[in-house]
Amino acid sequence: MNIWIVGTGYVGLVTGLCFAKLGHQVWCIDQDKTKIERLSDGKVPMHEPGLPELLHDQLALGRIHFAHEYTHLHAVDAAFIAVGTPPTERGEADLRYVFSVVEDLAKYGTPGLLVATKSTVPVGTAAKIRERFDRLGRSDIEVASVPEFLREGNAIEDTLNPHRLIYGVTSKTALTVLEAIHKNLASPVVVCEPPTAEMIKYASNAFLATKISFVNEIANICDRIGADVSQVALGMGLDPRIGPSFLRAGLGYGGSCFPKDTKALVNIAGAVNYDFTLLRAVVEVNQRQRMAPLYRLLNWFEDLAGLTVCLLGVSFKPGTDDTRESPSLDLARQLVAHGATVRMVDPVVKDAKVPGCGTDLSVTCDPYEGLLDADAAVLVTEWDDFLHLDWQRVKNLMRHPFWFDGRNVLDPDRLREAGLVLANIGRGVKPFRLVEVL
Ligand code: UDX
Repeated sequence: MNIWIVGTGYVGLVTGLCFAKLGHQVWCIDQDKTKIERLSDGKVPMHEPGLPELLHDQLALGRIHFAHEYTHLHAVDAAFIAVGTPPTERGEADLRYVFSVVEDLAKYGTPGLLVATKSTVPVGTAAKIRERFDRLGRSDIEVASVPEFLREGNAIEDTLNPHRLIYGVTSKTALTVLEAIHKNLASPVVVCEPPTAEMIKYASNAFLATKISFVNEIANICDRIGADVSQVALGMGLDPRIGPSFLRAGLGYGGSCFPKDTKALVNIAGAVNYDFTLLRAVVEVNQRQRMAPLYRLLNWFEDLAGLTVCLLGVSFKPGTDDTRESPSLDLARQLVAHGATVRMVDPVVKDAKVPGCGTDLSVTCDPYEGLLDADAAVLVTEWDDFLHLDWQRVKNLMRHPFWFDGRNVLDPDRLREAGLVLANIGRGVKPFRLVEVL
């Protein structure tokens, strides 16, 4: 098949390369000329395991092509829209880029082209795209919704071995094209109408976010009653009706999807006069959870003015350099507002744009450099690099030995043996019990 992928962000680039690996001819289109030139030269603009190698291989095989305008106009079978849908001030998905691509596809699309959305778009977007094509005299174009479920850091595996494929279609023709594109994948398929496909994406992300906020609330109660949330999650997760995943208590979810999609779904519900009470609470809990280290530090030091706090981890999770909605940035902003000096450490992120901080904060990749003379350290992102430090050296480097493990991944015994004071999320029972937390 010949495929256009419009938008070479995370989803677009990974999808394009994986389609090429499945044997299709793929043209990735993006207005950003520099990005296109770099991709054509084999340079990947983000940190994603396996992506540089995959790009290199597919360029060598001649199955992936990059262009800043529509090319290969006469024999394209399908176009996937993978442009950004950033949240507006009110938390709604901004569809301006999606509709601009629709205009282009109406102009350049081959008769009978299948146009599918990969971007996460509000329920009803496929119908709006259909209307636009009709208005532009392109009733021959098929419209489908094929949501993407890839995780950053695991993107290739998730795309080539998805847990499920969702085809939101209105015709047999559209279904046939999608089946041909994915024919080498052995995943279960759900065939449904486009609004259902769009809702599956939002409902999935909202449910996972709910699990996280739920376990974080349980953790906060554990802190107060002297229980250990890690063991509570283990015990809960062994029930197959609950399952063990997404029950890791911590500083809450970040990234390009959960924060945006949860707020968007609250708005989608609101637009049809439905108050999604539960999801509003999930969002609120997540925002509050990010501040857990701040409250602990205030509890411990009373005043943060003049203190140096080292934040370990800038990306929203390990394995990526993506800092979108990273808890680390919010935390840094609050610490600076309380008069603290913030140092940041991350193995791949080079600088941190902290909103409301005036200048960008510099980021070092060396934890020992970041910890030198620090009064407190907060592990925000559970990069492997931070798990097995020389704790005695850490203790000697720091001015004050206070640690907050925001992901419950550090070995409390090791830190205690080295003379560090450790606070964490929902494991108040040991080894240290801080009173009056949060
Ligand atoms: C997510 C979805 O998993 C994916 O299906 C969707 O397509 C896009 O959004 P991603 O944002 O890459 O993927 O990251 P994921 O690994 O799902 O983690 C999301 C956030 O939740 C991270 O901030 C992570 O730290 C947090 N998280 C995850 C927890 O706090 N606890 C957990 O138990 C799991």
